[in-house]
Amino acid sequence: MIPNLINTLVGLVLAWATILHPTWVERRFLPLGAFALAILVLALWARRSDPARWFSNVNIALAIALGVLSLLPLATLPNLTFWGGFWAGCLVPTVALWAALYRPAATTHADEAPSHRVGAGAATMNKSAMIAACALAAGCFAGAARAADPAAGKARYETTCVACHGPTGISVAPIYPNLAGQKQEYLVSTLQQFRDGERPNPIMAPMARDLSDTDIANLALYLSALKP
Ligand code: HEC
Repeated sequence: MIPNLINTLVGLVLAWATILHPTWVERRFLPLGAFALAILVLALWARRSDPARWFSNVNIALAIALGVLSLLPLATLPNLTFWGGFWAGCLVPTVALWAALYRPAATTHADEAPSHRVGAGAATMNKSAMIAACALAAGCFAGAARAADPAAGKARYETTCVACHGPTGISVAPIYPNLAGQKQEYLVSTLQQFRDGERPNPIMAPMARDLSDTDIANLALYLSALKP
């Protein structure tokens, strides 16, 4: 119960970090390695008391996959980092919460009223555990899917914008502004202004012309997370 509840929290923090702090998450070994270790230890601990082994086995497998991921050069693999953290961050808390609330159905004997009641209680508990886990999973996936995708922003930035604004968001020439660490909302509004002709600039306006709102959201999230 306790290790599963902690694992629910750890998984949610992982999803949150992956989506909102992409440049922190992609640092070599840490923090994905630390998340993997924490999830692994908690799942091994939970495994000793879990009513069904598969809960913790799934989380152990997810922790190992995350650990392998943390060994890769993640800065060059933004999509893998994002989706790896996303899936682990949504699935680990779902499984852990389910395990925390799950009660095995006691074998019922028709002639024994008390144990029959225990069996019925366990069945209700299983149903609410499943509903709680499904609600958490739905919330987590919906939240993560609605959030901008910084990996896509990075990919877009590296194909169209680096030439002037520099590989780390620090510009390559005095006439180009730095973008690293700029406020997310400001980036969104100013890119929309360039695109919609409200902020005319002969160099920058053509760069923004074919950006969609999604592209802009992804770019703004990626750039605001870079170290200025
Ligand atoms: C050819 C060089 C060039 C490229 C490529 C380029 N920009 Fe710019 N960018 C500029 C210049 C010049 C300005 C300053 C415009 C001005 O003064 O209004 C600017 C300004 C900006 C600003 C406003 C910064 C601020 O502080 O107000 C943002 C945001 C921006 N660019 C984002 C991007 C993004 C995102 C891309 C890729 C899709 C991109 N730029 C591609 C040259 C470029």
